[in-house]
Amino acid sequence: MKPQILVAREIFPDVLARLAQHFEVESNQLDESWNAAQISARLQGKWGILTMAGERIDAGLLAACPGLKICANMAVGYNNFDLAAMSAAGVLATNTPDVLTETTADFGFALLMATARRISESERFLRSGQWKKWRYDMFAGTDIHGSTLAILGMGRIGQGIARRGALGFGMKVIYHNRTRLDAATEAQCQARYVGKEELLASADHLVLVLPYSPASHHAIGGAELALMKPTATLVNIARGGIVDDVALASALAAGRLAAAGLDVFEGEPVVHPDLLALRNVVLTPHIASASVPTRLAMANLAADNLIAFWTQGKALTPLNAT
Ligand code: GLV
Repeated sequence: MKPQILVAREIFPDVLARLAQHFEVESNQLDESWNAAQISARLQGKWGILTMAGERIDAGLLAACPGLKICANMAVGYNNFDLAAMSAAGVLATNTPDVLTETTADFGFALLMATARRISESERFLRSGQWKKWRYDMFAGTDIHGSTLAILGMGRIGQGIARRGALGFGMKVIYHNRTRLDAATEAQCQARYVGKEELLASADHLVLVLPYSPASHHAIGGAELALMKPTATLVNIARGGIVDDVALASALAAGRLAAAGLDVFEGEPVVHPDLLALRNVVLTPHIASASVPTRLAMANLAADNLIAFWTQGKALTPLNAT
């Protein structure tokens, strides 16, 4: 008999069809918003779930769903999973690393360029009919080539951004990470390891690419922003909660930071009104990995994890040992 799985959000029909070859699938192709109690009710009798980073899997849910054996996240970040509780309950967790690295690094760079060169702000100006004549200082921004690119969090995506900056734009790349990269990887990325304070103080452009955890909550708050140059820009493609959004909005409003590009927010999809009110922020709705081929690859990898765990007892990209 096929095991039952729940696909918590709408997904590519082709991926759903692949899953249906191996599982009895309950899907959510209407993309309804299910709360924790609704997910728990739907998980009764289910062997697995495919989540998309918004669905929280914690001790309470696991206790209510004793038949659950695997949670396959369609995201590289997995702060929606309580990994310790999952391991204690013998539930396998998987994510989708690697397949999104280059696409996400592309987007980080796009957001950096849009932020530094004031692209959204100038487009709003043009579209609202305010462009009457050219001016020497119109939307003059910050240079990217030759500037100092500072990366906080130097995993696969951070390294992709470093390579783009160093090799494509002649940037001086510095980084800070929990663990220093080996010398060969540093050389490949042309990146120099520095302490966090030096990183903040030297950055012309600071890009955040570290995973969210209680330890990285508000890694960038008022004190950290105060160390940065007033001409610097900040880009967050990591997770909401890594930046203190209120402190950031206040620094931007006061001219203590030139501009920010944000793809992730505390409490998203709600965006703090102080950020919405600012002219010098570029705001995008958590789309860093959103190219069609990459989203398809992520969905297929999440599905492959479910299929491999069922057919071979081993997932492709496990996060814990069960
Ligand atoms: C997206 O935010 C991801 O973690 O893949």
